Order: sequence, then C-alpha cells, then structure tokens
Amino acid sequence: MSTPTTPRSGDMPGGQSVDTSGSRQAHGAPAVSDRHSLSVGANGPLLLHDTHLVDQMVKFNRSNIPERKPHAKGSGAWGEFEVTGDVSAYTRAAVFQPGTKTEMLARFSTVAGELGSPDTWRDVRGFSLRFYTTEGNLDLVGNNTPIFFVRDPMKFQNFIRSQKRLADSGLRDNHMQWDFWSLTPESAHQVTYLMGDRGLPRSWRHMNGYGSHTYLWANAAGEKHWVKYHFHSEQGVQGLTGEQAEKIAGADADFHRRDLFEAIERGEYPSWRLSVQLMPYEDAKNYRFNPFDLTKVWPHGDYPLIEVGRMTLNRNPKNHFAEIEQAAFAPSHTVPGIGFSPDKMLLARVFSYADAHRARVGTHSEQLPVNQPRGMQGHENGFDVYNFDGHMNYLQFGDDKPTYAPNSEGRPFSAEEGPDEVGWEADGEIVRSAYELHPEDDDFGQAGRLVREVWNDEQRARFCETVAGHLLGGVHGEVLERAFWYWEQVDADCGAKIRELVAQGSGGDNPGGEDDEAKQAAEGVLVEPKTQ
Ligand code: HEM
Repeated sequence: MSTPTTPRSGDMPGGQSVDTSGSRQAHGAPAVSDRHSLSVGANGPLLLHDTHLVDQMVKFNRSNIPERKPHAKGSGAWGEFEVTGDVSAYTRAAVFQPGTKTEMLARFSTVAGELGSPDTWRDVRGFSLRFYTTEGNLDLVGNNTPIFFVRDPMKFQNFIRSQKRLADSGLRDNHMQWDFWSLTPESAHQVTYLMGDRGLPRSWRHMNGYGSHTYLWANAAGEKHWVKYHFHSEQGVQGLTGEQAEKIAGADADFHRRDLFEAIERGEYPSWRLSVQLMPYEDAKNYRFNPFDLTKVWPHGDYPLIEVGRMTLNRNPKNHFAEIEQAAFAPSHTVPGIGFSPDKMLLARVFSYADAHRARVGTHSEQLPVNQPRGMQGHENGFDVYNFDGHMNYLQFGDDKPTYAPNSEGRPFSAEEGPDEVGWEADGEIVRSAYELHPEDDDFGQAGRLVREVWNDEQRARFCETVAGHLLGGVHGEVLERAFWYWEQVDADCGAKIRELVAQGSGGDNPGGEDDEAKQAAEGVLVEPKTQ
C-alpha cells in the first residue's frame, strides 16, 4: 500500500485549513475518497464496485435536463408581490386582495438563443412570474412586449423554427426570418416593436413586462371582466445601442444574468408596478377590434390602467439549476377568480407548457421544491391531489386515504357542477378559420400608429436603420421584395426609407441607449405605447 499524498488531517500547504472529514454518497454512506479511485494496485485496472466513482460518472452524465426549446437562456430571482390598490371588485383571487403579500419567483429570458447564447442579441424577452399564493401557484408567463408575432397557435412552432437554425449549416438566418414574417403579415406589430428601441433592453431590470394575452377575472359575486396585465419597471425603461449590444455579446455573454444577480447582491432590489386594464365582460362582443387578438394592444384611452401592486426581487437563487433551470412555469397554473379567454394562443399554451415539463423535466415536475405550491393553509401534509404513481412521485398525498374520488372515507372531492365561473359562452360550427372580424381588425394598423404616433423622428430613423441592417444581412430575391412591401403597409415613409437604405447598402443594428430617458418617460413613450 502506498501512503496518501495529502494528509487527512486538514492541514494544507501554506497553512490553509480545509475540512477533510469526508463526504457522503447519495444513499448516505461515507464516500471514503473524493480523490482516488479504487484500483488493483497503484498502476492497475479500476474496479466496477467503486460505487462512489460510478455514481460520480453517471450523475455527471445525467446532469442536464433538456433545455427549454424556446426561451432557453435566462435567469431569475426570488421576491415579493404586495397589493397596493383595491381590485377586489373585479377578482376574488386571494393574491390580489388589498394588503396581501405573496412570495414570488421571476425568470427572464431570450426567445431564440440556446442555453449559452449571448443575453444581448436582439430578441423579445421572456418575463415569467410565479406567485406562491394561498390558493395554489399562479404563473403569469409573459414577455417584455404586450403583443406577439402570430395570433393562431398553428403558426407558433413554424415561427420558432424560422428564428432558430438552418437544417444544413446549423446557422441562424435573416432570410428565413423575413420569409416567415413577410408571409405572415399579422407579425407586423410585434416585428415593429422588436426592431424599435425596445428590442435591445439595457438589462432585465430596465424593461417592462406584460401578460400580453387577455385573461378573465371573476369577483366574489361571479361578475366578470376581461383583463390585461402590465408590469412597469421602476428602474425606467432603457435600451442598448446595436454597437454596445454587439460588443457586450462578445465580452460577456451573460451580461443580463450578471446584472440582475449583482444588483440583488448589492441590495439594489429591482421592482415593478403592476397595473391592469379591465374590460367589462359584455364589451368584448362589439369592441372595435377583437380584444382576444394577441397582435393588438387595447388603447389606454379605452381602458385605462388601474393600480394593483408592486413586485420586488430581493433574493438570489443559491442553486441556479434547482431554483431557476428546474422552475417549470405554465400558463395553465391559475387560481380561483382568474381564468383564460378565447385567445387561441393562450388556450394552446395552457396545454403546451405543462406538456413540455412532463417531457423535459419529469412527469411530476410540480413536486420539485421550486414548483411545489406553498403557504396553503390546512394542506401542510400534502394537498388533495389524486396522483399516486409515476416517476419521482414522492410526496405523500394523505398516505392511507382513498386513492379514488368520490369516496366516503374523508378524502375531499369536488361536488361542483354548472357553468365555469371564469368561463365564457361558446357555440357554433366546428371550423378552421381566422377570428370573426370586428370593424377595425387588420394586420398593419397598430404597427403604423406605433411608428407614426408614438415614436419621434430619431426613433423612426433608428428603426429604419435597424430594419435595413437586418435585411442587408442576407435577405434576397422575392423575400426582400416582400419585406419592402410589408414595411410600406406599416408606414409608407418608413417603407420608402428602408428601401432606399438597403439600395445604398447602409443600415445597422443601431437603436436605443442614447435616448433622453426622462424626456421619453415624460412623453410616455418609454413607459407605454399610449396612443394605442
Ligand atoms: C417558453 C410554447 C407563445 C412566453 C415556452 C416553452 C414552450 C412554449 C413549449 C418552453 C416551456 C418549457 O420547456 O419549460 C409556446 C406556444 C405558444 C407560445 C405553443 C403559442 C401558441 C408565447 C407567448 C408568450 C410566451 C405569447 C408571451 C406572452 C414564453 C416564456 C417562456 C416560454 C416567457 C419561458 C418560460 C420560462 O421562463 O420557463 N413557450 N409559447 N410564449 N414562452 Fe411560450
């Protein structure tokens, strides 16, 4: 036997002291050595019954869960949501009752990039929120834009593939992005937003968040309102120039992740004000455009913002993987008093995320600590879930109580019947069709108003440069012609300018950053696209 090369006493060269009292294997027994594998003689073959070595290797090989398909790169933090307004007349959800404080988790992300991709690529940002309410988890899985690229879920996976990578080279490709966008004119509002100053946020702390979809609220009496959520950054909304973003992408791909973590470490807790727009239930039928169309915002003149509360992020994760990577946010996670709407995108998402979690994280991802409901009084020993089997189903839901419902042995089950209090009426033939048209429904109107009525000359100029720069990145032939047509529909002047810049070979990703923030905030431009 050779003698150990490092003393087991804990004394290291240089007088440093470390704890060498020994680690454990996952089943609790001593690991014996973290430094030497078991071999037949010092130079001999390794032994399969070195259970600690084997366990190290197999756990390492299984150390990743598949990344999220969209929104792979992100990070987040813990915080608190405090209700400061009174919306009890509109929803009975406990989380939104006056004075309530609720623990929460936030995750921010880019959409198209993979796990290691730079934070500062031009992209929409994910804005995922979880509220650990006394009635179960409420997840609001939104973005930093109030609208989206498509209004029918049948188009979503194609859209994401056009943002991802070419089949042969594995490269991202502007040409395919514009091919999809220009053949899908309903994307115009969101693409305008993306190519504008807000397409490159300075940090996650400096962007707003939106629930984007229309949801449904019901109060204690069962009265209903359609609702849209707005989270306004108290840090102000700020952007990066294209040049800054490009440099940062090379120097520090984790720029936004670092910014959030370090701000919280410094005690600079970012916060956002939550307001809602509320539409009386009956208004939806005859509103001037379809209020469930995700490519539209509701003008604040029609439905003003109403204060609800304030969210503050004040605690960093201790284990990024356990607390952020494994956090499984899903629009299906809702609570009493809050429902969905006829927005087809939302209805598809209600299925899609929980399914992604089953495939990607595990059948019972809800049982991971970050995903478990908490603070549910009377349910400390598990809650009345009728799930007993399956991979990693380890919570003991009432032990010896019946595994079936209904039962007469004291395990609760539901006796409710009748209309869903947060549902709506639906009737008609089964069809594949666009939404029924309301008088002002179109693809380009709100995009044009954003360009003409919300932005100033400098913002419009930067926007045209950004679009031209993007088109000059390899878009050609009939796709390029269609892209010019698309922008002419949004705004004739911008369309002409973009065509001219491309013809000159000039343009670049150059928006944001240099704005006079205070002036813009005063005009409401950075705060909200108020004229829409
Ligand atoms: C992530 C599907 C539209 C925001 C995801 C994921 C899927 C998905 C499968 C990955 C989930 C996971 O693996 O954990 C869809 C479908 C959509 C849609 C089918 C439309 C039909 C939207 C819209 C928004 C949005 C409209 C914003 C308003 C997000 C965010 C994430 C995400 C923020 C990241 C969630 C996280 O932080 O874990 N989406 N999505 N998605 N999506 Fe969507």
